[in-house]
Amino acid sequence: MSEYIAGVTLRRAKEEDWNKIYELYSTLSDDDLYLRYFHLYRPTVEDVKKLTNENDHITILAEYNGKIIGEGTIYNDGEFSLVVHPEFRRYGIGSMIVKSLINEGKRMGLKKIKFYTLSENMPMIKLGRKLGFKLINDEDEIYGELIVNSIQSESTYEIYA
Ligand SMILES: CC(C)(COP(=O)(O)OP(=O)(O)OC[C@H]1O[C@@H](n2cnc3c(N)ncnc32)[C@H](O)[C@@H]1OP(=O)(O)O)[C@@H](O)C(=O)NCCC(=O)NCCS
Repeated sequence: MSEYIAGVTLRRAKEEDWNKIYELYSTLSDDDLYLRYFHLYRPTVEDVKKLTNENDHITILAEYNGKIIGEGTIYNDGEFSLVVHPEFRRYGIGSMIVKSLINEGKRMGLKKIKFYTLSENMPMIKLGRKLGFKLINDEDEIYGELIVNSIQSESTYEIYA
């Protein structure tokens, strides 16, 4: 079981957050970027700005002491991905971001929420399994899917405060 950190909050990204998200991505190692994008790719300022100003997705941020320590994005087709700052891993933050993305997906009216990950990505596989995703092994990739029912109600992002 992961331990939790008090004072971490989750919220939707705003346009002015792009530079803090860019800072988060600059803390990632080549291995992290490979796991995130399936090849070694370092996102540009333009890529990060798209997270905060395009409308085909919802981005959730984890914040701690004014710093962005996690980012997760769910797209209109139900696919999501996320990253957590290396120093803040194994505290349950990735799991909380994915729970929040599932709620966003339900509000978007999605029937299915899904992710792809590499078969060596143990944290992501454990996370998906724990949250009830059906995992399908496809050679060096794992596909995770969760069937959901839409909801109308709002839920809080104030998770650990
Ligand atoms: C995947 C990632 C987002 C997980 O974030 P996190 O905040 O560490 O996730 P959690 O703390 O909620 O941990 C999820 C589960 O994985 C386990 N876990 C985390 N890191 C682990 C590691 N290095 N080895 C083994 N298990 C690990 C945790 O123990 C937890 O399981 P548990 O609740 O049964 O104990 C993070 O490792 C990351 O940013 N990786 C690089 C980018 C990436 O791979 N993104 C996913 C692309 S789809």
